[in-house]
Amino acid sequence: MSPQRRAAIKRVTVFLILLLPLILMMANAMLNRLGPDPAKAVVDNTGLWAFRILLLCLAMTPLRIITGHSIWISYRRMLGLYALFYACLHLSAYAILLLGGDLAQLSKELVKRPYIVVGFSAWLLMIPLGVTSTKRWQKRLGKKWLHLHKAVYVTAVLGMLHFIWLKKLGIWAVWPYALILGALLILRLPVVKSVVTSTRTKKAT
Ligand code: HEM
Repeated sequence: MSPQRRAAIKRVTVFLILLLPLILMMANAMLNRLGPDPAKAVVDNTGLWAFRILLLCLAMTPLRIITGHSIWISYRRMLGLYALFYACLHLSAYAILLLGGDLAQLSKELVKRPYIVVGFSAWLLMIPLGVTSTKRWQKRLGKKWLHLHKAVYVTAVLGMLHFIWLKKLGIWAVWPYALILGALLILRLPVVKSVVTSTRTKKAT
């Protein structure tokens, strides 16, 4: 099998795996297995997957640095777009299922609840990243593209803040995510990056 074909099969597999949370949620909804508050379960589930996939997306560059394989980078765009997709589902579920499609109420909630403002800002920031994620935009923006796409870290920090605000720091469920995000941010520091790269090249020789 040609390397291109193998890479294409891997990409399709990742694509289908990322669709699984939505398929499972829909199956559970049809079987009435979303718990006592199905609307809230859909909002929570889609928010959680948007955040998990965003963290996975951020993990691709550190994985390339650690392993020395650039294959990870080929999944980055798909992961970013999937994170945006789940974030859009999350916002839609919140607006339609919890607020009954009342947009005036949504704007009231935006003013009233700071955690909604933070979540909304994270989502807004994801949009230009999704739109400019194509090769065409990458060429068009040149170096500016790299600077713009650093905003993905701001999105992740805002997503984390939104999660912490909701769950309160005392809830253990938040901590693994905060630790993963912290580690991913530390791995992006130039000094840490160069230590990891030189350790890997020393091991290879
Ligand atoms: C677009 C604007 C957004 C709005 C209006 C919004 C609103 C909400 C609401 C109402 C909840 C559930 C609150 C509750 O449990 O009572 C929630 C949960 C959550 N949201 Fe958002 N959110 C937004 C964007 C985001 C984004 C962009 C992310 C991630 C990148 C995110 C991640 C989460 C997470 C992780 C949870 C907690 C899930 C859980 O409890 O298991 N949200 N959000």
